[in-house]
Amino acid sequence: MKLFVDTADVKELEMCLERGFPSGVTTNPLLVARSGCTDFGAHIRSMIDALIRHDAKIPLSVEVNTADPNKMADQAEEFVREFGDYPYLNIKIPIGWNELKVIAQLAKRNVPVNCTCCMSYNQAIMAASAGAKYVSLFWGRIRDIGYDAGSVVRATRESLDRRGLDSEIIVGSIRHIADVNEAIQAGGHILTVPPKFFAQMCAHPKTDEAVAQFMTEFRAWEQAVQASQMKRAA
Ligand code: E4P
Repeated sequence: MKLFVDTADVKELEMCLERGFPSGVTTNPLLVARSGCTDFGAHIRSMIDALIRHDAKIPLSVEVNTADPNKMADQAEEFVREFGDYPYLNIKIPIGWNELKVIAQLAKRNVPVNCTCCMSYNQAIMAASAGAKYVSLFWGRIRDIGYDAGSVVRATRESLDRRGLDSEIIVGSIRHIADVNEAIQAGGHILTVPPKFFAQMCAHPKTDEAVAQFMTEFRAWEQAVQASQMKRAA
């Protein structure tokens, strides 16, 4: 299972890259809009520059920002022209009947596609069958309307494995630290997580307690040794 960073914030991305665990990055138009940037192209370029600065040869998903399937292929080509010098670029295309045509076209052109906004087993299987490299299942949004996101991920994984389809499942729309554990256990290949959860994933009160006890006891021992050495020297 791989961890991706779900962000369009360069600072947050660099904080994660410095810690060595990211295996990829996912953005979407909402994250870009909330990043406070003023130029889409320049912003994606700054994310690519950060990845190169950290020598992170990892996939970066950039999503089309048109809902019109007729314009999606052109925009995808534009992204490939503009950002394709970054060899790990993939294009996010939302699932849909006409969007499948775009996914198939890009896959034929060896442009890696992350088929996004999938909420169901059927959508994910359609996208994988059309040639998507990644199928993104939205854990939080699936649960928003009372569906069991775990069963959707599990069923999709079983079918991809059984049918020998190469697509990988990205589980996204993570809303809570508990989602991380459950989504990993549900069998997603990849989990894309908002940066705010990673520090929590490293934290545990018993860890703090153990480290504090180790330090306290070691310092006490150090002082005892020094005191006995000074006594002997006196
Ligand atoms: C990832 O690729 C998705 O775009 C992202 O996880 C969606 O998260 P949201 O449902 O919280 O917007």
